[in-house]
Amino acid sequence: MSSQSSGVPHHIAIVMDGNGRWATRRFLPRVAGHKQGVESLRRCVKACVDRGVGVLTVFAFSSENWNRPVEEVSGLMDLMVIALGREVPKLTQDGVRLHFIGERGGLSDKIAAGLIQAETATAHNTRLVLNVCFNYGGRWDIARAAAQLAARGEPLTEANLDAAMALSHVPDPDLFVRTGGEQRLSNFLLWQSAYAELFFSDRLWPEFDEAALDEAIEAFRRRERRFGQTSAQVAGGERRDPQAA
Ligand code: FPP
Repeated sequence: MSSQSSGVPHHIAIVMDGNGRWATRRFLPRVAGHKQGVESLRRCVKACVDRGVGVLTVFAFSSENWNRPVEEVSGLMDLMVIALGREVPKLTQDGVRLHFIGERGGLSDKIAAGLIQAETATAHNTRLVLNVCFNYGGRWDIARAAAQLAARGEPLTEANLDAAMALSHVPDPDLFVRTGGEQRLSNFLLWQSAYAELFFSDRLWPEFDEAALDEAIEAFRRRERRFGQTSAQVAGGERRDPQAA
């Protein structure tokens, strides 16, 4: 059964918030929370594969995260290097294809090379696309796409912008999840989330387990997606997803 017909969202996007609080509550350094966050991400990826989700997009490091304390930023960079080395073989076993989304210019040569290597090593996997947004911001993405079109002399139409955005290789997210109790978008997938269903969980990211994911999926199943139409039109089978046009 495809994810669509089973009611499972094809594309889930997640703001993995709450790592710092998870660590602070245990009198641990914030980086320990991010480490635990990687474990939680691994569990979530596996659960998405098992449930037939096609695309998972996660916010690992925002353009604004550079403003955090130096030791936290370097801890996150180190974690990325360690995670790339450890996780890629396991991801391949699970059929996961990795894409890194974000500005690569500001990254160290070591990380930039690691990202390319991981993308190449997983390029043939087909069960789940995992987009890791790293040094990413929604406004960065929109501005970059617009600048690309302007440089090519192409009109700034919705379709052209859509094709120039960093996630043009996947359909828009169906379900947008944020953990950690806050209810905001924080510059994540601003363009792509136009019709996403929003789900906010009070769980801190390291505590977001399979049951929490199932709760989010179940909430999604109960939503009526109207894409600007009326409830009667949707009930009458006229439903029209703008992306399917
Ligand atoms: C937000 O929690 C989380 C982040 C800024 C980083 C998320 C990263 C991971 C889950 C690890 C995967 C990433 C890499 C680099 C492999 P927060 O720190 O803002 O938590 P708080 O709101 O409790 O302070």
